[in-house]
Amino acid sequence: MQTVTSLDPLRSALEALRRDGTLALVPTMGALHEGHLALVRAARDRARHVIVSIFVNPRQFGVNEDLSRYPRQLERDSALLAAEGVSLLWAPSVEAMYPTGYGTEISVAGVSEGLCGAARPGHFDGVATVVAKLFNQVRPDTALFGEKDWQQLAVIRRMARDLDLVAPAADAIIGVATVREVDGLALSSRNAYLSPEQRAQAAALPREMDRAIAALRSGAEQAVVLAGLVGGLIAAGFASVDYAELREAESLAPATPLAAVPTRLFVAARIGGTRLIDNKPV
Ligand code: PAF
Repeated sequence: MQTVTSLDPLRSALEALRRDGTLALVPTMGALHEGHLALVRAARDRARHVIVSIFVNPRQFGVNEDLSRYPRQLERDSALLAAEGVSLLWAPSVEAMYPTGYGTEISVAGVSEGLCGAARPGHFDGVATVVAKLFNQVRPDTALFGEKDWQQLAVIRRMARDLDLVAPAADAIIGVATVREVDGLALSSRNAYLSPEQRAQAAALPREMDRAIAALRSGAEQAVVLAGLVGGLIAAGFASVDYAELREAESLAPATPLAAVPTRLFVAARIGGTRLIDNKPV
């Protein structure tokens, strides 16, 4: 596996790989876990070469968020990726990604509003901007993202469609199912922040979501079910709930269980200083 940290060597390395076959990109912020490795394995099934980027993107963190303490473990991540048969690790510095005087930002209306867009102002502008840059830098045939960040996936697909991106086209942006611990907690790099007690309490998130989904499916009133979900999380030890909402799966418009299109339940909740998100089909 080659590791590249600046743009010129990236371009020549990619030229050589592209001559040999198709490229799949897995963008990450590192601190890799089994969820990321599932993306890498799915990428391997779709392309001759897998490129993984590791870049903790400052533009997607708010002022009071965890940029400085976000886990950085490049050596360990690099060994994991090499063992998975990744062809190239793209690990630019902040200066390589955003040179002095950088001034362009991409903002995606609609799908980036509400849910995490409301709770984390500017977050999806930062995500769209860095992902557009990664797409331009790598020009992959396909790109893979985790469904745990469902709204992020929707934002990226909308951006690709709106900007007529050809590499990858919107339909070549693949969502990969969330990987979960045995107790149902979705894997996330932020789970590393949880104390053992908080980690045990965090299992209430998928459990209360499953309970709410079963109630919605059996016809219980939506407002009552969602209030019960919030109450259940607080009782289990969560400090607060940013949102617990039912949305259309594709447009992310507010939904009811009777919607004619697929719907999903989206929740973001805080335990100690850690914010966890999850979503599941209703
Ligand atoms: O999901 C992530 O890890 C990040 O938001 C992404 C897509 C790599 C952009 O920085």
